[in-house]
Amino acid sequence: MKTLIKNGRVLDPATKKDGIYDVLIEDGIIKEVEQNLIVEVDNIIDATGCFVMPGLIDLHVHFREPGFEHKETIRTGARAAAKGGFTTVCAMPNTRPVVDNLDTLKFVIDKAKEVTKVNVLPIAAITAGQEGEFLTDIEKLFKNGAVAISEDGKSVMNARVCRQAMRLAAEVGVPVFAHCEDKDLAARGVLNAGDKAKELGVYGIMNIVEDSIVARDILIAKNTGAQLHLCHCSTQDSVKMVALAKKEGLPVTAEVCPHHFAMSEDDITSDDANFKMNPPLRSRKDMEALRLGLKNDIMDVIATDHAPHHVSEKNVPLDEAPFGITGLETAVSLTITALVDTGYITPMQIAEKMSYNPAKIIGLDKGTLLPGKIADITIINPDIEYIIDSSTFVSLGKNTPFNGKKVKGKVMATIVAGEVIYSAEAK
Ligand code: DOR
Ligand code: ZN
Ligand code: ZN
Repeated sequence: MKTLIKNGRVLDPATKKDGIYDVLIEDGIIKEVEQNLIVEVDNIIDATGCFVMPGLIDLHVHFREPGFEHKETIRTGARAAAKGGFTTVCAMPNTRPVVDNLDTLKFVIDKAKEVTKVNVLPIAAITAGQEGEFLTDIEKLFKNGAVAISEDGKSVMNARVCRQAMRLAAEVGVPVFAHCEDKDLAARGVLNAGDKAKELGVYGIMNIVEDSIVARDILIAKNTGAQLHLCHCSTQDSVKMVALAKKEGLPVTAEVCPHHFAMSEDDITSDDANFKMNPPLRSRKDMEALRLGLKNDIMDVIATDHAPHHVSEKNVPLDEAPFGITGLETAVSLTITALVDTGYITPMQIAEKMSYNPAKIIGLDKGTLLPGKIADITIINPDIEYIIDSSTFVSLGKNTPFNGKKVKGKVMATIVAGEVIYSAEAK
């Protein structure tokens, strides 16, 4: 089986290749990336005017299965991933039961194989039940397929337990994905501590809620030698601390979510729980710092923190609703609209931050279009404008603050191991 992707703008961070090329795929493998390839093939994809990049990798999604299938299942989450251009996603362990044991880990792996061609890679919990006390069998979970460990949804608040985990993680060679939030400082906070929280009469979440744990975790990583990846950074001081850690040569990486660089608290129009996520939408100053951090490559990764919830759970007052918004089906267009069209990042940086760097962080042999690699490829038309309509989401989660927003940039096709698993025309 041979497929030819013709005439697209190929972006490969591994070689810095950026130009109009054809990509030949044979039996699921990238064979050649050259100009004007003339070969007989079974299938031709015309990518004129489109970016052709290594398949997007999202280091941070919540698929809710097992336990919360009314919010999302592995099947529906993976469909949303494919539609969003993602060929690989890493699933957070805050399911029920928590992914803190081999059985649940294997359930996620097997279920994903059964229901989707998207690579769904599980992340294991750091402590049993994510209760912050007793470490999981980190080595065993890693050896059986967990690509990282994380307590996402919360921090490991006990610094001693956190240090033990990072020491073990360093020994085993598994990255630690840190959700940075001081639970005591966060208290009952709902929105960023600022005018908007006051206006809407809810408790605020100060930047120091995140910053204090970012500082602590960087220092624990330095102390233990652990590879630390900071999830969903939302503050200007997070960016400063990541820059400092990098300057010291520490193995620290950081991610930013589309909602944090595409919106600020000023965009919250009403008492609507679709604006509620953790960490919260911050000030314009923070948003600007995140954009510059991405531009200057202090921030390595764009990840969605895709956190679907059922309509009924979000259709309640702000302070009662769960944190989280869906992200897989809006990430590419928000990135192009808020970062590329505004001149903050280049198309090559999209490929770096949404594919190449994520692959490196979890030690995956993906994120490039080099011949010989598995043909996971995403084709994006950066010029198509459309209005986000959550009713068209294939995710079970319709909870987005971007409904009705005009954006630019559309995923045209998602290819996994040479097979087109999503195509915009087909819809
Ligand atoms: O907004 C969020 N939602 N932040 C988190 O840390 C957890 C996530 C979830 O699981 O819903
Ligand atoms: Zn989190
Ligand atoms: Zn999360």
